[in-house]
Amino acid sequence: MRAPPVIELHGIATRFGSNIVHEGLEMRVEQGEIVSLIGGSGSGKTTLLRHLIGLTRPHRGTVKLFGEPLLSGDMAEQRVRRRRFGVLFQQGALFSALNVAENIGFPLRELRVASGVEIRDLVARKLAMVELAPEHALLMPAELSGGMIKRVALARALALEPELLLLDEPTAGLDPDLSASFVDLIRGLQRRLHLTIVLVTHDIDTLMALSTRVAVLAERRIVSYASVQDTVAGAHPFVQRFFKSVLERGANVAKQGDQC
Ligand SMILES: Nc1ncnc2c1ncn2[C@@H]1O[C@H](COP(=O)(O)OP(=O)(O)OP(=O)(O)O)[C@@H](O)[C@H]1O
Ligand SMILES: [Mg+2]
Repeated sequence: MRAPPVIELHGIATRFGSNIVHEGLEMRVEQGEIVSLIGGSGSGKTTLLRHLIGLTRPHRGTVKLFGEPLLSGDMAEQRVRRRRFGVLFQQGALFSALNVAENIGFPLRELRVASGVEIRDLVARKLAMVELAPEHALLMPAELSGGMIKRVALARALALEPELLLLDEPTAGLDPDLSASFVDLIRGLQRRLHLTIVLVTHDIDTLMALSTRVAVLAERRIVSYASVQDTVAGAHPFVQRFFKSVLERGANVAKQGDQC
């Protein structure tokens, strides 16, 4: 039997006071996809990710993860569901008072899924997974470069061995080389761990390199949901502006789209 969609959003409406952010938003993400979510600043991308993990709730509509309503079931069932996704927040969000190993192990302790020794082993494995050295485990966040912070945050998002990874601006603030190597890392992990990924990004190179589909959030809903190639060809003014540099470069978009 075919697996249910990893994410199903139906009729999502969100507002903060008089600020209407989403209105009748629909979206489905299938297993193994890498979906890039783009949209103007303040269009509601981070809010949508927060809905997906139950940090906030829409006023109307349903959020289903792995075929089940997000908040259905008893506490035990919700804890099981919680283990199936990992999140890299927009602001990196490492705990500044905890060292690298404690940051990575935090979700394991929070959900009490492993003992002290197991946590040490798991943390070591996750550090290797994001290509950091064992001696980095004892560094404090203030001692890390921007690229290292992203890797530690990614290792923490992978701590619970999730099936779904949500990344909010994973390459923001990285120089082009670091950004490219972080993208390679994400792609390699996605293939190796069979992850489904939703990422929010403003970065065209990241989007081009990773996306199986692109969702465009504008006018409070998803106005386009298509392959990179079809998205770039779209007529919506936000899409036109976003991809202007690509179109101006005269890049061979069709070819790049095929490589994704
Ligand atoms: N907790 C909150 N209380 C009130 N308003 C909020 C809250 N969270 C978000 N908003 C508002 O919702 C809108 C969408 O915010 P959100 O952070 O989702 O945007 P975004 O698309 O992620 O933007 P950016 O690209 O700048 O990160 C904004 O107008 C923001 O001010
Ligand atoms: Mg945001």
